Amino acid sequence: MQRVGAGTLHAADVDRLVRISGWVHRVRDHGGVLFFDLRDRSGVVQIVVSPQDAAYQTAQELHPEWVVAVEGTVRRRQSGAVNPKLATGEIEIVDANIEVLAQSDVPPLLPSAAEAPDEAVRLRYRVLDLRRQEMQENLALRHRLLQVTRRHLDEAGFYELETPMLTRSTPEGARDFLVPSRLQPGAFYALPQSPQLFKQLLMVAGFERYFQVVRCFRDEDLRADRQPEFTQIDIEMSFVDEEDVLALAEGLTEGIAAAAGWEVELPLPRLTYQEAMRRFGSDKPDLRIPCEIVDLEAFATAFSAPFLRDAVAAGGVLRGLKAPGAAELTRKQWDELGRQIERFGFKSVPYLALQGGDLKGSLAKAVDQARWPDLAAALELAAGDAALLLAGPEEAVSLALGQLRLMLADQFGWREAGHRFLWVTDFPLMEWSAEENRAVSRHHPFTHPNPADLDRLEAEPLAVRAQAYDLVLDGVEIAGGSIRIHERELQERIFHLLGLGQEEAQGKFGFLLDAFRFGAPPHGGVAFGFDRLCMLLAGATSIRDVIAFPKTAKGTDLLTGAPAEVAQAQLDELNLELRPVEHKA
Ligand code: AMO
Repeated sequence: MQRVGAGTLHAADVDRLVRISGWVHRVRDHGGVLFFDLRDRSGVVQIVVSPQDAAYQTAQELHPEWVVAVEGTVRRRQSGAVNPKLATGEIEIVDANIEVLAQSDVPPLLPSAAEAPDEAVRLRYRVLDLRRQEMQENLALRHRLLQVTRRHLDEAGFYELETPMLTRSTPEGARDFLVPSRLQPGAFYALPQSPQLFKQLLMVAGFERYFQVVRCFRDEDLRADRQPEFTQIDIEMSFVDEEDVLALAEGLTEGIAAAAGWEVELPLPRLTYQEAMRRFGSDKPDLRIPCEIVDLEAFATAFSAPFLRDAVAAGGVLRGLKAPGAAELTRKQWDELGRQIERFGFKSVPYLALQGGDLKGSLAKAVDQARWPDLAAALELAAGDAALLLAGPEEAVSLALGQLRLMLADQFGWREAGHRFLWVTDFPLMEWSAEENRAVSRHHPFTHPNPADLDRLEAEPLAVRAQAYDLVLDGVEIAGGSIRIHERELQERIFHLLGLGQEEAQGKFGFLLDAFRFGAPPHGGVAFGFDRLCMLLAGATSIRDVIAFPKTAKGTDLLTGAPAEVAQAQLDELNLELRPVEHKA
C-alpha cells in the first residue's frame, strides 16, 4: 500500500485504509485505550489503540521518537474529541497494525515540547531539534524561497554558474578562512568571502546575466544575523545601470516575499545614505520605528549648558530625538543609556522630560524659558515624552542617536506592525580607517564612483559617492551591490587611492586588470544574504534558526565538534608546524 502523509489526512479520507510512517510524537494512556500521535514531515495524526486490538501490546511499548509504520482505517472523531487546532483534528486512525522500524533512546530534547530548550542543547542534538515543527517549517520555507529564486532568475535570462571555492583571498573587508595547499607547500587557498571577482570575470567573458546560490566564508565576529559561512544569492548583469539592477532585485524580492505570503508594494522606497544617517542615525534604518532625529542647530543658543554651545561653535551639530513615554525613565535608566553611547565619545545622554506640566531632566535648568515653546514644538513633545539631545561631530551624533533610537524602541515597543523594505543608495565610496590610517573602500574596491564626483576623486576622496546600494528590511541589511568599474585606468586610480602600489595591485588583482584589457562591458550586480532573508520571512530572530547545521557565536559546530585538531600526519603532509596555543586566563 502506498504511504500517505500523516498530516494530509482529513474528513474526506474517512473509511479509507491508509499506510503512514513516521515518529511517535506523543503517547497518552487513557485508562486502557492508548492514543499516540504519529508525526512525519507533513504533520501529525492521532492513532487510537484499544485493549482488544491485535496491535495493543506493540502500542504499549511505544515511546517518543520511535519510528513506526502504521496501517489503519481513518475514522471521524466523536464530536467532543475534535481538535480544531490540528489540521487532522477531525479524524483519527483505528484498527491499526503497527510495525516498529526503529527504537529511540530517551531523547534529551523532545520535538513535541511546547518550548524549545536551551540553544546549546538544540545545537548538540540538532537532529532532534530539526524535528520540531518550527524548524521543519523554517527549512521548508527556505527550500521554497530557493526554488522561487531559481525560477525567477532563470525566466529573466540568468545562467546559474559556479565559481571556485578554493581561490585567492579577495578583499571583502573580513578575514579569510585559509586552506593550506599540499602540492604547493607554504601556499594557501582562501575560501571565497564572495564570488565578486569571478562574477565580474564572467561578465567580461560575455555571459551577460549570471546568478549563483553560493556559500561565502568570512572569519568575522558573529552575531544573531551573521555566520562564518552563509549563503548569498549572487547576481551580476552586463550593459546595465543602477536602475536596471534595482528593478531586477525588486522583482526578485517581490517574488520571494510572495512565496512567504508577504505582499510587497513596488517600487520600494529609497533614501540616500546621507539622508538615512541624518534622519535615522543608521545606514540600515528600521522604518517600523516612527521616531526620527530632529535637527536642532537653530536652538543651540537656547541652552546655557556650555558643552552644547561649545560643540556647535566648534563646527558640530545639535540634534535631538523625541522619545514618547520616556519621561518615566529613572535616573539609573538614563545613566545606562549614557553608557551605551560611550563608544561614540559621549559620557551621558542630556535630556528633557515633560512630566505632567513640568519640565524635568538633566537639561531642564539650562533651557531659555522664552525659547522653550518653540523647542518643544520642533520636537513635538507632549506630556509624558522626553527628548534626547546630543551635540558634537555629525557622524558621532548621528550614530549615537541612531543607537538610542533602537534601544528605546526595544524598551518601549515602538515598532509598528508590518514590514518595511528600503533601498539605501549613494553610499560613500571610501571611509577613513583609523586602524589602518588610510582610506578604505566602503563596499569593495571594484565599486564605481558616481560619475558626477569623478573629478574630485583625488582632492576629496572621502566626499565621493559610490554607485552602491543596500536593501534593508526592518533594520537588517539583506542585500548589497553596486555598479562596477569596467575601465582599467579608473580601477588603477582607485587602487592607488587605497594605497595599493602598482606592483601589489598587479599581484593581487592582475587577472582582473588583465581581463579589462580585452574589452569589459559596463556591469553591475547585487548579492542577497539568503539566510537573513529567510530569517526575516520566517519571523525568526536568529539566522541559526533557518540554517540546518549552523555554528555557535564562537564559530564552533556543537554537533560535529568542528573546528577540531588534526593528526600530526596531516600537518606533516601540509608542511605545517603548530606553535603551542596560548590560552587566555
Ligand atoms: P556584501 O558584503 O554586502 O556584498 O554581502 C551581501 C549580503 O550578504 C549578507 N551577509 C551575511 N549574511 C550572514 N552572515 C554573514 N557573515 C554575512 N555577511 C554578509 C548580507 C549582505 O547584504 N560581493 C558583494 C555583493 C556585490 O557587490 O554584488 C558582497 O558580498 O545580507
